[in-house]
Amino acid sequence: MTTDATIDNQPFHYEEVDFFTGQPYEQWKRARQECPVIGSDPNGGLGSMLSTPDRQAFQITRWDDVEHVLRSGEVFSSSINAEHIGQFMGELILAMDGQEHRSYRNLVAHAFRASQLERWRDTVISPTINMFLDKISPIGKADLVRDITSRYPVRVICAIVGVPVQDSDQFHGWSEKINTGPLDPEAGLEASRSMRAYLEPLVESRRSEPQGDLLSDLVHAEIDGQRLTDEKIYGFLRLLLPAGAETTFRVMGNALTALLLYPETMARVKSDRSLLPAFIEEILRWESSVTQVSRVAAVDTEVAGCPISKGSAISVLTGSANHDSSRYENSEEFDLDRPAKNHMAFGTGQHQCLGMHLARLELSVGINEILDRLSNLRLDPDAPAPVIEGLAFRGPQALPVLFDAV
Ligand code: HEM
Repeated sequence: MTTDATIDNQPFHYEEVDFFTGQPYEQWKRARQECPVIGSDPNGGLGSMLSTPDRQAFQITRWDDVEHVLRSGEVFSSSINAEHIGQFMGELILAMDGQEHRSYRNLVAHAFRASQLERWRDTVISPTINMFLDKISPIGKADLVRDITSRYPVRVICAIVGVPVQDSDQFHGWSEKINTGPLDPEAGLEASRSMRAYLEPLVESRRSEPQGDLLSDLVHAEIDGQRLTDEKIYGFLRLLLPAGAETTFRVMGNALTALLLYPETMARVKSDRSLLPAFIEEILRWESSVTQVSRVAAVDTEVAGCPISKGSAISVLTGSANHDSSRYENSEEFDLDRPAKNHMAFGTGQHQCLGMHLARLELSVGINEILDRLSNLRLDPDAPAPVIEGLAFRGPQALPVLFDAV
C-alpha cells in the first residue's frame, strides 16, 4: 500500500456519528476503501477525543493494520490508557507495557482460564440468570435490558470477586463514577477512595482466610516469589467491573436483538443448541460492544504507508476490522453459517481480553436459559423496535418483549 491510500486529515464526519446513538459502520466502510488510516482534525470528531493541540491522532480501520498495531507492543504503547482513566483506577493492567505487563498478567491470568471458570457455572452464573428470569416469567412481558442484561454480568462479577452480592448496586455505582471520572474528576476520585476503603477489610480477611474467590486468588497469587502489591490489587479490582460488566451486558443485548430481529435464527438456535457457540462468535464479530482500543506511538513509525510520529495517539478500530470485506464475505451482514474465523472483539496481542472466557460462559449460560424459559419470545409489537447503537460502545437501550407467562 502507498501513501496515496491514506488521506491525512481528510474530514470524516464523526461529529455526525453521535457517541451514544451513532451508526459508524458506513463511515468505517468508506474509510477502509478510501482512507484506511484517518488523521484526525484536532477541532472535532472522534479522533480528536485522543488528540490535543500538540498531539496528532490517527484511526486504524483495516483488519491487517489493526492486527499489526495490536501485536507490536514495543512500537504502539498502551501507556496512553493511564492518562485519563488511570487517575481514577490506579495501577492499571490496560496501561502497562513489556515486562511489567507480562509479570502482572501472569499473576492474575490463572483465575481467568476457561478451566478455572467452569466452577462458577453452577454456583454463580446459572443461579444469577435464573433469579432474574424467576422475576419476569410470571409477567409475560419485560424489557430485557432493564430486567436482565444490565444487571446480570455485574452481579456475576461481584460474586466471583467475593463482594457480598447485597452490595453489588453500591459497587456498581462506584464503578460507574470511576469510569466517568474524566468527566467529573471529583466524583471519580471520591468513588475510587470509597471503593478502596470498602474493599480493604475484604482483602485483609482473604489474606488470613482464603475463601476460594477471586480476591483470595489475587492476594495469594505468587510467581517466583513475586506477589501483587496492594496498589496493583486495588487497581485491578477497580478495572474489573467496567471491563467485565459493561462490555458483556451490551454484547448480550446485541445477541438478544439479533435473535428477536431474525426469528428464523432464533428458531434454529433454540432447536439446535450446538449452534450457540457459532452464534455467539458471529455476534461478537458483527456487533461487539467495544469498537476501539487506544495506543500511543512509542517511536516514529508508519501504518499502511502513512507516517505516524512518536507521541501520536491511535484509535485502533477493532469494530471496523471485524467488518473488513477483505477478511469476511458479506462482512456487514449477520450470518450464522459464516465459516469460523477469529475476530477482533477481544483485541489481540499481549493485551487480548483477559475475561473473554468468562464473557463467553456468561453469554452461553444466559442465552441458553432465556431460550429455555421464555417460550414464544418475541418483540413487543406496541413498542419501538430495538436498535444497536453507539460509537465506541454499542448496544440497545431497551429490548421490549412478550412471551408466554408461566
Ligand atoms: C463481551 C465482553 C467483552 C469484550 C467485548 C471485551 C473487550 C476487551 C478488549 C477489546 C480488550 C483489549 C484492550 C486493549 O487491547 O487495550 C480487553 C481487555 C481486557 N478485558 Fe475484556 N472484554 C469483555 C469482557 C471482559 C470480562 C468479562 C472481563 C473480566 C471479568 C474482562 C477483563 C479484561 C481485562 C482485565 C483486560 C485487560 C487485559 C490486559 O491489559 O492485558 N473483559 N477486553
